[in-house]
Order: sequence, then C-alpha cells, then structure tokens
Amino acid sequence: MTRNAHEFVCRENEPLAPYTTLRIGGNARYFASVASVEELRDATLFAREKNLPIFVLGGGSNVLIPDGMYEGVVVYMQMKGILYENIDTQTVLAVCAGGESWDTFVADTVARGLSGLENLSGIPGSVGASPVQNIGAYGVEVGAHIAYVEVFDTRTLVSKKLSCNECRFGYRDSIFKSEKGKSYTVTRVAYTLSKNFTPSMEYKDVSLFFSKKGTLPQNPSNIREAVLQIRAQKFPDMSIFGTAGSFFKNPIIAKGVYESLLQKYPEMPSFPVDSVRVKIPLAWVLDEVCNFKGFKEGRVFLFEQQPLVLVTEHGATADEVYTFAEHIGEIVFEKTGIQIEKEVVMMK
Ligand code: EPU
Repeated sequence: MTRNAHEFVCRENEPLAPYTTLRIGGNARYFASVASVEELRDATLFAREKNLPIFVLGGGSNVLIPDGMYEGVVVYMQMKGILYENIDTQTVLAVCAGGESWDTFVADTVARGLSGLENLSGIPGSVGASPVQNIGAYGVEVGAHIAYVEVFDTRTLVSKKLSCNECRFGYRDSIFKSEKGKSYTVTRVAYTLSKNFTPSMEYKDVSLFFSKKGTLPQNPSNIREAVLQIRAQKFPDMSIFGTAGSFFKNPIIAKGVYESLLQKYPEMPSFPVDSVRVKIPLAWVLDEVCNFKGFKEGRVFLFEQQPLVLVTEHGATADEVYTFAEHIGEIVFEKTGIQIEKEVVMMK
C-alpha cells in the first residue's frame, strides 16, 4: 500500500468482486481510493506515469468486471458530503458528492420533505453514477431533476460544470457514455428539488399500490415507502444473490417494426418514445415470448419475479454471465428480430 502527498490510498492486486453487487470480477493491478478532486488528479497522474488506463468505480451496482487481471488503475470514488441551498421559497438545490450512496442521499432528501427523487428510492449505487446512467424508475428519470454536474476531466486535469442540457440525457444514456464524455469523472451533482409535493403516479405499479391501499400519498415519504415495497418484490435478496438490476435495456424500435411484431404477438405492450419510435418492455418478451422466467444456465439465471433482472449464485464467473447474456440476446433476436443491448456496463 502506498500513500502520496494527498494521501490517496493505492493498493496493488486488489480483488474487485467485493466492490460489485454482482460479486464478480478479478483483481485490479492498482486500486486508488480517492476522497477529493486533488486525490483524483493525483490518481490520474499516477496512471499516466505508468501509462495505464483508468476505470472509475462507484457503487459497483451496474458493472460486469472480467475474471482476469485488470491491467490499469481502478479509481474508487469516495468523495462525501451533501449541501442544501435555498433557491427560492419553494425550491432547494441539493448538491451531493459523487461518492455518496445514492439511496442514503435520496433518504436524506425525503426526510427533509423535499420532492423530486422519491420515486428513485432503493436503487443501489453511487450519486456519481446517477447522471451517467440517467437512472430511472417508477416514472421518473434523474435527468429531469439535475441542475448541473461537476466533472473532472482526466484528459485536461481541469474541473468544470456541465448544465443539464450539456449532459444530453436520454434513456439510460448521457454525454458521459459518449466519446466526448469518456474522460469526464463525475465529482458532484446538483439536483433541483421542491418543497411542494407533486406525486409522480403515472407508473402502473405505483398507482396500483395506492389504489389497493385506498389512500393517496401525502408526502415524498409515502412514495418512498411504496417504491421500496414494490422493489422488494422485483429484486432478489442481495445478501444471498448477486445482481445488477436490469441487465438489458428495454429496446426502442421503429413503430413499423412494432406493428409487424403485433401480427405475431398481438399482446405485446409498448410505450411511446416519439412520433416514430416505441419502447418495448423486454421483461414481457422474456416472459411471454421466450418463457424465460427463472431460466437458468449453471450459476446464472433470470429472476422468477422479473426476468429482466439477471441473478448470480455464489461462485459464478464473468465469463458465465457474459455467455448467458449472449445466449439470451440470440434467442430474443431469433424470436423477434430485435437486437437487445446490455444496460450493465462492461469493464474493458
Ligand atoms: N413484465 C412481464 N413479466 C414480468 C415482469 C414484467 O410481462 O415478469 C412486463 C409487464 O408488461 C410490465 C413491463 O414488463 O408492465 C415492465 O416491467 P417493470 O415495470 O418491472 O419495469 P421494466 O421495464 O422491466 C424498468 C427499468 C428498471 C426500473 C423499472 C421500474 C430498464 C432497463 N429497467 O424495468 O430499472 O426499476 O422499470 O421503473 O429500463 C435498472 O435499470 O437496473 C432497473 C432495475
């Protein structure tokens, strides 16, 4: 273990599996835990000196790490801190460091009675990953609440602020996934939240929850409780199994393609995207078309209650997961002609 002037901790040959929710992966040649922008800068210079690539690791909840040695520097984001600024009588800006746990942050905003992020309760991972993936659940995408994102550019070694527009948010997509944003590491994120509670109830599972209960949500905390209960039905017990949530994205296809699929599968649901495209719930395809609920190969399977959720048993390898996912992709393609994309990021 070595420490430099800014005290960033750098370990060699660090096992990565314990840092991921899939609990899979080999070792990192170097592993730098960084708690400030200065330490991130030093870790970047360290990688440069050694002529090695960098991989930024947050909560490890959306990544598949290969089984072998990662010949590079894994930068583990440990920056902490949450600030709240009153913008006007109704609006608050919550500025949160990238290394905070997403759900700890959401719980804190909800406990303060602030509205905006409550539908995104219970998502594992870090605050820094929220704009990268433009995380979304139960009718809300985080991009809709982001005021700005502070990034450190590992190419220029300079920090800058990107406005919400500059982040180019799309479905599970942002500038940070593009060539241009590849060198940006998210260090802080500012979210616009409201003291006024306006419930987002459009998502079927959420509206059903409250209609069954016979009440309406009175505050963000009521929505958070509902979402946590809904999620508990859709995800495996993460103290026993490995998972990264949805392993694939819901495919977005042309309306014409959807209409021809309806000839074969008249019940196939869809959600509008724009005037020419629709989004298909892949869970429906995996369930109704492929009969894949609980489908298992070796130590990898699709969750019985939500087949979009890939689950691993103890001892599963990245190769097994990768082969399994490719197999699922081939069968979906054979049956529907749809080419599915992984939602989980592959560490390269
Ligand atoms: N469905 C089935 N069978 C099933 C489960 C679902 O047919 O066993 C169909 C139903 O028609 C249902 C539809 O699939 O209405 C959608 O299912 P669900 O509401 O569970 O959502 P999803 O589209 O499968 C997405 C996100 C999740 C997020 C949920 C809730 C993606 C890739 N996934 O899943 O995000 O929690 O909506 O909003 O967009 C993640 O990204 O890791 C993640 C878990």
